[in-house]
Order: sequence, then structure tokens, then C-alpha cells
Amino acid sequence: MSTTDSPPDDTNSSGDLDAPLLEVRHLSKVFPGVVALDDVSMNVRAGEVHGLVGENGAGKSTLLKIVSGLYVADGGELLWNGEVVRFRAPPDAVKRGIELIPQELSLAPSLSAAENIMMGIYPAHLGRVRWREVKREAETVAATIHLEADLSRKASTLSPAEQRLVMIARALARKARLVIMDEPSVSLSEVEVDALKAVVHRLRERRVTVIYVSHRLDEVLELTDRVTVMKDGRVISTDQTSAVSKPVLIERIIGRSYGEQFPSRRALESTSPLLSVRNLSGGRVRDVSFALHPGEILGISGLVGSGRTEIVRMVFGADPLESGEIEVDGRPVKLTHPRHAIRRGLSLLPEDRRGQGAIVNMSIAANVSLPVLRRFAMRGTGMIHERVEARAVRERIDRLNLSTPNVQRPLKFLSGGNQQKALVAKWEMSDSRVFMFDEPTAGVDVGAKQEIYSLIAQLGARGAGVILISSELEEVVGLCHRVLVMREGRCVGELAGEAISEAAILHLCYEG
Ligand SMILES: Nc1ncnc2c1ncn2[C@@H]1O[C@H](COP(=O)(O)OP(=O)(O)OP(=O)(O)O)[C@@H](O)[C@H]1O
Ligand SMILES: [Mg+2]
Repeated sequence: MSTTDSPPDDTNSSGDLDAPLLEVRHLSKVFPGVVALDDVSMNVRAGEVHGLVGENGAGKSTLLKIVSGLYVADGGELLWNGEVVRFRAPPDAVKRGIELIPQELSLAPSLSAAENIMMGIYPAHLGRVRWREVKREAETVAATIHLEADLSRKASTLSPAEQRLVMIARALARKARLVIMDEPSVSLSEVEVDALKAVVHRLRERRVTVIYVSHRLDEVLELTDRVTVMKDGRVISTDQTSAVSKPVLIERIIGRSYGEQFPSRRALESTSPLLSVRNLSGGRVRDVSFALHPGEILGISGLVGSGRTEIVRMVFGADPLESGEIEVDGRPVKLTHPRHAIRRGLSLLPEDRRGQGAIVNMSIAANVSLPVLRRFAMRGTGMIHERVEARAVRERIDRLNLSTPNVQRPLKFLSGGNQQKALVAKWEMSDSRVFMFDEPTAGVDVGAKQEIYSLIAQLGARGAGVILISSELEEVVGLCHRVLVMREGRCVGELAGEAISEAAILHLCYEG
């Protein structure tokens, strides 16, 4: 914990002496059928790291989008340094020094990292941009947060972690006073999260105020000075972080007591494998072999970039293999397209949900029922029985506690975590026998994580095999029967049963 240098506790003072940097009063925002914000008031003090937590759809991103000028509130007001301000568009907020690093990354993919960092503030002389200076200034800012990537690389070639850091660097280049990070740690590995935490500490040292949104409560407890809980569009509480604990936060977030986090692990019977992979190579992956048995939950761990995602993409036929054999139910198969894999009973929930998993303009129902659409076809007409489909979809998503007034709405109107839940529901509806989940709980709130864990366990109970990739080691330890640990494309170790622990996995990740 590093909260020793937190600002003095002045919760009991009148507050006038230490006027907040940002204050929101009675904000409200309604979307069709959804009250996203309902009379929200809170404040953020200069120089603090302020945590913001709450279930998927609680209204966190909506609040932050209003604060940064992306949305206009229906009612209420914003005060900046004690003065009422009106933001009609993001530049109005940027001018005051408010920078949002959104949940979904949004760099200009074909520009270099340096250009992205300096975007909008290119040093110019007589109307000509001085590119050398752009690069030099970008490097200076990048150095302050230890962003070590080559800044001449195109943004699209950077890892998610590097992209996140580029966005933070951009905020600093524009002299941000308030940096808002909406789930910055999603899809980052442990090491990268450590780097991110160091960046937050550095921002705090420089008296840059930070709002930090995360579903990873350990992070929030470690990094923040105060923490606000939102639920159903309202603020439930704001506390000094040192005065709350994880169980307290969880109960406030989900509004009930939590119980066991992980379902109990089922004993496996010895049977022949559902899936065997032998000497798989391709991309960064070299010579990886493993088997997956009915009912088994197999973890694949390793740092981001160690080849975890590539393995499941190759097995799913989404990426070509250079060599190796795959057997499903003991029969050799050639999977050169996801279609073939789906036909053999394999499914993949990809890591990059917006890029590969979801069709965001299509309805929730269509996204969820995509793999099993035939089930809802009206015989001989080629048409879909929408009511039956809607009912089936509704049943699935209700179980994951995904709140939406209507399953016919486009997926893009769901909050980030709720989109992820919808995609989990999608594969759960299929009758696959091998489920590959790549970061299934990324951006998902604590209550829904629990639902996804029990869903994974249920898949095992019905005899399916599950491959689980997760950067949250706690999940791997809590759920898996066996764990393969990858480093630089190779499998460097395997742990089973009692031998699975966070320490053992990390040990293999770094020096196995
Ligand atoms: N542009 C939009 N159009 C319609 N509804 C929206 C829109 N943006 C958000 N909503 C709805 O407003 C509610 C609050 O969403 P918001 O994205 O603020 O939640 P969140 O707390 O950030 O959740 P998460 O943790 O999943 O990111 C949700 O019910 C969401 O579906
Ligand atoms: Mg959000």
C-alpha cells in the first residue's frame, strides 16, 4: 500500500477552505428507456486520486463523459475550481485541463505514437509542423511516465498497454490537471498494471488529479485516496479509501452480501480427451502440446504477449498454424476457418470484443443468438422467429444480471461490461463442447464475475471442456484444474490441483 502520502484528511472540515477542483451537483441523464444518472452529486479534490466503482451500467462512464464534454447532462451543474462551467463539446473540457482516457481505446491507428501524443498541439513554424520537435516533445512526455515503446511506431501496432500509456502521455502533453481513466487496467497483464500504477503515483506526485475507474477493487484500494460507489445511476457513498475494505465495497456495489467467490471445483473422471493439440507452432507460438478433457477447466497463463491468445486463435481456425496437429474427440481435424471449428463444437470468446466478438450495430438479441440462429428459424421461410429468439436471449442475459429494457436495442448502447456479458451469453447458448474464453471477465463487475465463474463451472458440469485465459490470476487459481504457463511462445510449465497458486504461476512466467 502506498497511501502514506495521501492528502490530509479534511472530511470533517467545512470544505470551504479546500474547495474541490471538480464538483458535480444534481446531474441527471436519461437515455431512451434508461435513467443513466439520477441526481448525482460528488466532488474531486485537487491532487487526489479518486476511485469510482460500481456495477456494469451503474453510470460511471456516462458521468465521466459529461465531465469531459462528450455528453451534455439533462440537468444539474458542473463546477470547476468553484466556478460553474458548461461543456458543449470535448474541447471545452480540454481547455480547462480535463482529459478523458476512455474505456475503449481510440488512438488514430495509422498515425505514429508520437503524433498521437502531440495531436492538436503540434509545434509549428510559419504554418509548417516541425516533425523533429513533435518527436522530441513526445519523447520527453513519454519519459516522464516510462513509456518505452518506439514512438515512431504506428499506434495500431502497439499493445493495448502501450496504447493506454500513449493516451496518458497525450493528456500530459496537453498539461492536463484532471486525468480521467475509465478502466485503464482492462486487458493489461500484471507487469503492465504495475507500470500503470507507477504512472498514477507519478501523476499524483506532480499534483495531477486523477479519477480512476476499475472493477478490480484491489487496485482501487491500493491506488486511491478516496473512493465513490455508484449504483443504478446514483452515488451510494464516498469515503476515505483507508476507511473501507474490499468486502465493504463489494457489498455496496452489488447491494447484497457476496458469499463464495468461486464455485467448488468438480473432480474429473479419467476419460479420453475432447481436444488434443500436439506440437502447435505459428506466430510466436512454438511447439505447444496439451490435452483438454471433458469437464476440465484448463488455464493458460503467461504475460500478455506470451502467446496465449495466439494458441486459442489457431485452435479456433482464426489464425493459420505453421505446423502441429489438432484432434477433436480423437479424430484429426484441419481447422482453417472458424466455421470448421464451430462445426466441430469449438467456440471462442475473443479478447478484443469490439474488433472480433461483437457486431455492435446489431441488436443484443442478434449478437447473442448468432451461433444458434438456426434454432429460431421458422421452417421453410428462412425467417427468424423473433419472439422466441427474444425470449431465449432474455432468459440467458437475465441470469447474468444484464440490465436492459429491450433485447432489440443495438449492442453498442450497453455499458462496456454489459457488452462483455452479452458475448459470454452468446457462447453459452451454443452447444459447443470446447469453450475457449480469452479474458472473459475483462471490464465485468464483481457480481457478474461471480455469475461468469458459475457459468464456466456449469459448462464443465455438463461435460464440456473449458480453456480459460485470464490476466487475473486469482481467477485462474480459483477455477482451473490445470494451468499451462507460457513464456515467449513456449509452454514453460504445467501446474495441477493443489500446486496451482499465484506465486507458482508468476514464478514460471518470469523464470520457469
Ligand atoms: N449512448 C447511449 N445510448 C443509450 N444508452 C446508453 C448510452 N450510454 C450509456 N447508456 C446506458 O446508460 C447506463 C449507464 O451506462 P454507463 O456506460 O455509464 O455504465 P458504466 O457504469 O460505465 O458501466 P461499465 O462498468 O459496464 O462500463 C447503461 O444502462 C447503458 O446501457
Ligand atoms: Mg463504463
